[in-house]
Amino acid sequence: MKLILLGAPGAGKGTQAETISKELGIPTISTGNMLREAIQNQTPIGLEAKRFMDNGQLVPDDVIIGIVEERVARDDCRNGYILDGVPRTIAQAEALERFGVTIDNVVSIEIEDAVIEKRMSGRRVCGRCGASYHITANPPKTDGVCDSCGSELVIRKDDRPETVRERLEVYHRLTEPLKGFYEARGKLRIVNGNQPIETVHREILTALGKGV
Ligand code: AP5
Repeated sequence: MKLILLGAPGAGKGTQAETISKELGIPTISTGNMLREAIQNQTPIGLEAKRFMDNGQLVPDDVIIGIVEERVARDDCRNGYILDGVPRTIAQAEALERFGVTIDNVVSIEIEDAVIEKRMSGRRVCGRCGASYHITANPPKTDGVCDSCGSELVIRKDDRPETVRERLEVYHRLTEPLKGFYEARGKLRIVNGNQPIETVHREILTALGKGV
């Protein structure tokens, strides 16, 4: 199964990817998490990406295409993977096709901008493993501590309201056209993201033909 989770910032891609990854036994490839790790490790890619990410802009396509091509070639991707946050432009989607990646399904998690802006103020993420929580909709078992790895939860720098608005504008301009790209290939499924996390999850499994 090669699955793309598409959706605006804060639509719930990372939250859903985490559960589906465990259920289907395939890794999640989150370019956002990979870039944040590169920033933390102060690698050349991290240093280049930081100035774009802090301003809510997309990191250049050639950087993303390079890291994704290398990642999907690794052994753990043999039985498939979930792409979370990539592709984000038509050029990235075309690059995937050039490397011979055949996508089985694209699920677009849809939600209005106003709900997202409100939701993002309650997001907390693990500073180490990138797991995503919400202070009311998806709280950790212990306040401020990651359930998965025990590290401290932090507020992402790009979750400031003005940066969220910029990210939404970039999403509508550069990423939303991917819906038409994948619809033309018969791969697109739409799920309403403005529902409880478990309901969104069930609808995604149904869209993938794995519902109960
Ligand atoms: P990235 O890390 O990919 O961020 P994003 O796409 O903007 O997505 P988010 O992580 O903000 O949201 P999400 O949809 O995963 O939502 P989540 O599950 O966390 O990218 C960051 C930056 O990196 C980009 O701006 C760009 O600069 C760069 N970048 C990354 N990939 C790139 C690429 N391919 N090309 C170029 N640049 C790239 O949920 C959000 C919150 O809501 C959480 O608190 C969660 O608990 C809560 N929540 C989730 N679902 C629900 C629900 N159903 N009800 C209530 N609350 C919910």
